[in-house]
Amino acid sequence: MINKYNAKISGTGMYVPTKILNNYDLEKIVDTSDEWIRTRTGMFERHIAAENQAVSDLAYEATLKALEAADLRARDLDMIIIASVSNDHAFPSTGCILQKMLGIKNFPAFDISAGCTGWIYGANIAKLYIENGIYKNILLVGVEILSKITNWKDRNTCVLFGDGAGATIISRASSSDISQFIDSELSADGSNYELLIQAAGGSRMPASQQTIKDNKHTVYMEGNKIFKLAIRSMYTACHTVLKRNNLDIHSIDWLITHQANMRIIDALGKKLRIEDDKVIVNIDKYANTSAATIPIALDESIRNGKIRHGDLVLMTSFGAGLTSGSLLIRY
Ligand SMILES: CC(C)(COP(=O)(O)OP(=O)(O)OC[C@H]1O[C@@H](n2cnc3c(N)ncnc32)[C@H](O)[C@@H]1OP(=O)(O)O)[C@@H](O)C(=O)NCCC(=O)NCCS
Repeated sequence: MINKYNAKISGTGMYVPTKILNNYDLEKIVDTSDEWIRTRTGMFERHIAAENQAVSDLAYEATLKALEAADLRARDLDMIIIASVSNDHAFPSTGCILQKMLGIKNFPAFDISAGCTGWIYGANIAKLYIENGIYKNILLVGVEILSKITNWKDRNTCVLFGDGAGATIISRASSSDISQFIDSELSADGSNYELLIQAAGGSRMPASQQTIKDNKHTVYMEGNKIFKLAIRSMYTACHTVLKRNNLDIHSIDWLITHQANMRIIDALGKKLRIEDDKVIVNIDKYANTSAATIPIALDESIRNGKIRHGDLVLMTSFGAGLTSGSLLIRY
């Protein structure tokens, strides 16, 4: 397919709630230790949403920053995509709620459910709409409040997650622009979907007193079974894109992987043979914010001057589904 236009990232923004929960705070909640969490995951702090905050509130704050960075107004947007598994409501979509908060209407707004890979899935959708010439500016937000669907009695999961939002404006690039989306790869393997799930609240297991008693409305994860799959799937997604574009890993300036576990990030970096100092890591500050990890890391790295215009940035993620994907851009 010959693209009419190129897509590019024209602005990014992030927002994390003010409350911070560190490993020592967690030691008071469950049978864990700072030492275990640090050595097994690389995490130290995570941000936790206030009682009255929903994902649309976090998404809104991040969006204002992204619009400012892109030098656009809300009315310049042509589409809103929200990547989240912890939406304001089962329905309507958070995309529509955010549209109302921004005071705009009469264009498509929707959510996608691809777990931690949600932002990569959304970027792929946005890329196609921009390249076909259908839209000029698409808002994509990866946002989660996993703290509200966490079982705070389960040490296997409650130490792992944090709340936050990363907003990105994906726009049509001008013909002279060096910034552009180069390629993207998506995949899913539903055969292991039960390994990472919020079981109750849908049509399979509607909410009942029993589901609440059994903690079925919270995140269940068999982390050790997912561990190797995460490394393998992200490696395949990166390798496919590199190979398809005849690129050597050494030509990549930055690798941003999903921030689920420092040991996964390290193992993936080694398998890809990328230099350690090209791998962006912020897991110590935010833990796993699911669909928000990549856009948060992207925004931070752009704002702190690590990622500069013209850099080749490879991003990859893995999550519930089990989904995986990669996105290669020249920023
Ligand atoms: C979740 C994860 C950090 C657990 O690390 P792990 O090294 O696999 O640990 P295990 O689950 O095998 O548990 C090892 C031991 O630590 C214990 N443990 C688990 N959580 C603990 C905690 N917070 N504090 C102390 N001990 C803990 C377990 O009970 C187990 O004890 P046992 O050996 O006595 O039974 C890791 O498996 C992981 O990151 N998985 C992938 C996550 C992922 O990519 N998810 C997809 C995207 S969200």
